[in-house]
Amino acid sequence: MLGIYFSGTGNSRYALEVFLKELDSEAKSFAIEDINADEQIKLHDEIVFAYPVQYSAVPKIVRDFIEKTAELWKGKRVFVIATMAAFSGDGSGVLARLLKKHGAVITGGLHLAMPDSIADEKVFKRPFEKNKANVENSVRKAQQAARDIKGGRYKKQGLGVMPRFVGFISQRLWFGHRTMKYYSKGLKIDSAKCVGCGKCAAVCPTGNISVQGDTVSSGKKCTVCYRCVNSCPMKAITLLGDKVEQQTMIEKYI
Ligand SMILES: Cc1cc2nc3c(=O)[nH]c(=O)nc-3n(C[C@H](O)[C@H](O)[C@H](O)COP(=O)(O)O)c2cc1C
Ligand code: SF4
Ligand code: SF4
Repeated sequence: MLGIYFSGTGNSRYALEVFLKELDSEAKSFAIEDINADEQIKLHDEIVFAYPVQYSAVPKIVRDFIEKTAELWKGKRVFVIATMAAFSGDGSGVLARLLKKHGAVITGGLHLAMPDSIADEKVFKRPFEKNKANVENSVRKAQQAARDIKGGRYKKQGLGVMPRFVGFISQRLWFGHRTMKYYSKGLKIDSAKCVGCGKCAAVCPTGNISVQGDTVSSGKKCTVCYRCVNSCPMKAITLLGDKVEQQTMIEKYI
């Protein structure tokens, strides 16, 4: 058993850890950015793949990873975990279909509600206690789903025709195109707040940020994971919105 994940603010990584701990405590997990991830996929037949939904679609970096590893998925049995702030018709399904295209066998899917990673938008912002309760609830759901698998029952959340229709109509039709390419407009850095600490550059999964002295600049390869926005100690970065409303790294809630 192997865990593979992409995670902007840690929600999907944590959900996967909790799930694997219950299902197979020996199993290790690897981020898709890890240079060993490809080799690990080759070595395992049972894989759990966790990722954060973006508009009921798959982040560009995950899409690229699957294309890069296309020949490795044939015959692999994959269970998909999709984390989200509130809702996704077919979060599991959309990744499952990409993997199936390359020959994977999808064993099941699980949807977990977590804190909203879009730090600079008001939508889905909840009080700390509510976010914490959501995380605790998702932990219980993940543990139960893992116990079910041990008993031979695989959850199929997000995998049917109806979830696919709902995901398309409510989200992908309107916003899905945003995940088809990297966001190239750049981060908005408030130079009056920035102290040049370099944390944003250090955490970016695509190497999209550079810091020289106290000048921070970003390139055209942003997968909109929101890790930098949520990590900046000075709340100096915004991306889609204009004001940091709430920073949410998973460590705050566990
Ligand atoms: C660009 C973007 C789009 C998102 N779209 C959705 C969405 O359609 N529905 C939803 O419930 N959450 C949405 N979210 C919230 C994340 O899916 C959620 O916070 C997720 O748990 C983050 O996980 P991570 O920390 O592993 O990246 C979106 C987040 C981002 C950054
Ligand atoms: S993390 Fe924030 S304060 Fe630090 S360099 Fe980046 S933008 Fe500036
Ligand atoms: S620039 Fe920020 S939001 Fe974009 S990929 Fe890097 S860390 Fe994620």
